[in-house]
Amino acid sequence: MKKIAIIGIGRLGLCLALNIEKAGYSVLGIDVSEKYVAAINSKSFHSSEPYVNEYLTASKNFVVSTHIQEIFEKEYNIIFLVLPTPSKSSGEFSHHYIDEVIENLAKYGKQPITKHLVINSTCMPGYCDSIKEKLSALNYTLTYNPEFIAQGSIIKDQQYPDQVLIGETDAEVGDMLQTIYSKICKNTPRYCRMSLLSAEITKLATNCFLTTKISFANAIGDIATKVGAEPEKILEAIGADSRIGNAYFKYGFGYGGPCFPRDNKAFTQFAANNNYAMLISEATDKTNKTHHDFLVEQWKLKFEKSEQIIFDSVTYKKGTDIIEESQQLQLAISLAKAGHQVVIKESSTVIKLLMDAYSNLFTYQINDN
Ligand SMILES: NC(=O)c1ccc[n+]([C@@H]2O[C@H](COP(=O)([O-])OP(=O)(O)OC[C@H]3O[C@@H](n4cnc5c(N)ncnc54)[C@H](O)[C@@H]3O)[C@@H](O)[C@H]2O)c1
Repeated sequence: MKKIAIIGIGRLGLCLALNIEKAGYSVLGIDVSEKYVAAINSKSFHSSEPYVNEYLTASKNFVVSTHIQEIFEKEYNIIFLVLPTPSKSSGEFSHHYIDEVIENLAKYGKQPITKHLVINSTCMPGYCDSIKEKLSALNYTLTYNPEFIAQGSIIKDQQYPDQVLIGETDAEVGDMLQTIYSKICKNTPRYCRMSLLSAEITKLATNCFLTTKISFANAIGDIATKVGAEPEKILEAIGADSRIGNAYFKYGFGYGGPCFPRDNKAFTQFAANNNYAMLISEATDKTNKTHHDFLVEQWKLKFEKSEQIIFDSVTYKKGTDIIEESQQLQLAISLAKAGHQVVIKESSTVIKLLMDAYSNLFTYQINDN
């Protein structure tokens, strides 16, 4: 049985590990928290992400450890890195988690047999090229293989991707990855293989295009609402044009969550660092804010201050427990701060997060169904 190691068994890494195991590989996960690792190994870990609990329970060849040296002891030659790349105040991503792991791998010296490092984390364009020579000196190849998945459907998104993006320095390693994905995928995705830098740009530019599409739809919806036209009908008709399409083209909340806003900002900053004004991404970000302000004014007109405004969910996507950059939550906050009575119906997990962050701003109703 072929062996694959994954360093970083978080939201994305755990799903990748389970899908790779299900595809017939033996998977060793490495993570830092003893408690978390123990919960996964005892299969008592519970995720709200669909299919994770079932896949974890059914898994037979997936173990997690806190000891990175097991990669060397047990001869894992393909090593995925699915580590956090948090945003800095400039909008760029910080790669310090990846840098630290590479420093750690370097302590084990030059490898007698070539190992293949595959970065899945979202990186700034240029990062992979900046580390590839150091890795090559240690006898590691480097491949960049970011994912196009959404929270709340990660397992299925990995099984049915439109495209598998592989930024490669070595075509044989690209072939190896393509073989792994051909076993994970239940559809026939397009394999997009290119240089490391091109793949880094492709990943961010894809999300930038989607945020632009969302902001464009919301801007059309706002102006249509303002003049008394029909936003939904207008957008449906525009999206019916096959050159445009209806996906991500509805009138609703702005884009939010852990990826879209930060990828858009990072791409703008990447362009600025290279003396190019990425005006579209800047306008997309501003339009998302303008749309928020427009919605606040609309809702203020719609509801008296004596009325309750009930939000059925304030996570950035229904069915997840993620409130990061949630536009629904931003609207609820703006209305509550303007003196409206805002009631939030949410799962107990989300209510706990909200109470920690916003204590008395809202009234809460638990909905754990
Ligand atoms: N979650 C998503 O929806 C999503 C989508 C697309 C891309 N991404 C990208 O994937 C990357 C990972 O995202 P995530 O959401 O899985 O993050 P996460 O924070 O959920 O998981 C990261 C994991 O890495 C572990 N870790 C940190 N330092 C470590 C170390 N030194 N050794 C071993 N493990 C370590 C953490 O304990 C955590 O479990 C990010 O770059 C993110 O932008 C995430």
